[in-house]
Amino acid sequence: MMKFPEFRNRRLRSSAALRALVAENYLSPNDFIVPLFVVEGQHIKEEIPSMPNYYRFSLDLLELEVKRLWDKGLKAVLLFVKVPDDRKDNRGTEALNPDGLMQRSIQMIKAAVPEMVVMTDVALDPYSSFGHDGIVEMNRIVNDPTVEVLAQMALSHAQAGADIVAPSDMMDGRVRGIRQVLEQNQFHDTAILSYTAKYASAFYGPFRDALDSAPGFGDKKTYQMDPANQREALLEAQTDIEEGADILMVKPGAAYLDILSLLHQNTQLPLAVYQVSGTYAMLQAAVEKGWLDYNSVMIEQLLAFKRAGAQLIATYHAENAADLLNQ
Ligand code: PBG
Repeated sequence: MMKFPEFRNRRLRSSAALRALVAENYLSPNDFIVPLFVVEGQHIKEEIPSMPNYYRFSLDLLELEVKRLWDKGLKAVLLFVKVPDDRKDNRGTEALNPDGLMQRSIQMIKAAVPEMVVMTDVALDPYSSFGHDGIVEMNRIVNDPTVEVLAQMALSHAQAGADIVAPSDMMDGRVRGIRQVLEQNQFHDTAILSYTAKYASAFYGPFRDALDSAPGFGDKKTYQMDPANQREALLEAQTDIEEGADILMVKPGAAYLDILSLLHQNTQLPLAVYQVSGTYAMLQAAVEKGWLDYNSVMIEQLLAFKRAGAQLIATYHAENAADLLNQ
């Protein structure tokens, strides 16, 4: 046993250089995935009201944005599109449109910055007239017919050039459905980043404002996980791994570090975490009031994800964090 005074914890904390030498984790722009919101139109850069300093872009401005991000060392984007109401229906038909906004976004980014890793959201909610992640029948979200659409949606993203498809819907069997269709169509190298443990969380509120995708009735508790549960995340991980996922994600991040840590100890695939919109909004609000220091709290939260076991962090702070780390 290490005993005082032979052993003193404070010795290795006594200078910044010593602290840096013994640090167990550090952040770099390589860690981040930048979520991007895309809208139809031209010259549009509109702030999302509940996400100060975060914007929806039309494709022309998104191109500049993506080049800027790449120049800062950011290597991955995660795309979400805002679909006009008149193109929404129950089956998410627009999601499969080869000329849809998502497909055009992927093509544009791959042309503008070919090395950028393009990840796409695979779920029906932005396309659904009900704002649900699946097809609705008699007020229920039906699983298996939804998986068929999701698999076609993922294929359509792969055909447009996506490197990684990211199913965020929480239907059972969707990773298998997507993997089968990708393999059948020779997309052997398209990776699947699965939202493995995605909880039915109230922290997604601002995101639903961003995409106008709030559920029209009910909530998402029949498909997203119960925040009361921890061990169930292992079951979700096991099925995703068996079905062919390449990366597992935990979401939300901040209140769910135990889940991240559990998966880190019990699985082998790379782990991602999504620091969601509600956490972003909370920090921005506190900073606006002068109650918290933006840079320090941001970095502390991001480091916590690394400590808990994440290799990839999807975060709305990505650009600010990269700026700080590049200094
Ligand atoms: C929808 C989706 C959501 C988020 C990512 N994909 C919202 C939801 O499940 O209702 C949330 C992201 C965030 O809050 O930042 N498939």
